Amino acid sequence: MGADTMVSFSTPEYVSGYVERTARFVPGLRDLHRMTGLLLAERAPAGGRVLVLGAGGGMELRALAEMQPEWRFDGVDPSPEMLELARANLGALASRVTFHQGYIDSAPDGPFDAATCLLTLHFLKDDERRKTVAAVHSRLKPGAPFVIAHHSFPNSRSDKDRWLQRYAAFLTAAGVPAAQAQGSIGSMKELLPVMSPEEDVAVLQESGFLDVELFYAGFTFKGWVGYKA
Ligand SMILES: C[S@@+](CC[C@H](N)C(=O)[O-])C[C@H]1O[C@@H](n2cnc3c(N)ncnc32)[C@H](O)[C@@H]1O
Repeated sequence: MGADTMVSFSTPEYVSGYVERTARFVPGLRDLHRMTGLLLAERAPAGGRVLVLGAGGGMELRALAEMQPEWRFDGVDPSPEMLELARANLGALASRVTFHQGYIDSAPDGPFDAATCLLTLHFLKDDERRKTVAAVHSRLKPGAPFVIAHHSFPNSRSDKDRWLQRYAAFLTAAGVPAAQAQGSIGSMKELLPVMSPEEDVAVLQESGFLDVELFYAGFTFKGWVGYKA
């Protein structure tokens, strides 16, 4: 991710309260983690090795580590502060995670039995997103699953405005002051390179992922699983 995205993942304001805020602002987040674990476990063996891209905060790492006591993880994230938060949230479970500060190129070659990238790809512009997804693909074993989830909604001007207003309404219903919610969607509209669901699927398919299926739709968020051939 370049330095020109809408969020600085290193500011104290962003990092503190991250876990509580994310759980409120992403519909069904705990279930998203549970479904991710189940989808990965359909293919990954008990002692599997899992790549977690955008691992900062450690929420999905924690959920996956609790679901599968023998999986080992490589967690990749460019933000030292978000990685530190992940370590803190994992506690003793952190002993099963090797952390890598950086982007996908900092990840080991694998090959991995499975990979995830949650709440992260929507920050990446088109070209970087394609390269990142392809680089995940190259690190997987044949047949391995890749689970992604992030903001994804139709992006013609009127569709985009409608879905952003719906997200503002969701934030407000979750306790965010209305003016702040409007500010958030203003930044999203200007700076977040959200793709349509069709474009998201195409990025996975162009990188070589097969049998791509939507498994999660939480208002503006969508999640897919795809498999390396
Ligand atoms: C909204 S957080 C999501 C963290 C975690 N996956 C979760 O679901 O709670 C986005 C994370 O992606 C990281 N990030 C940003 N750009 C990235 C990139 N190009 N590759 C990997 N991680 C990235 C940020 O540092 C941040 O920790």
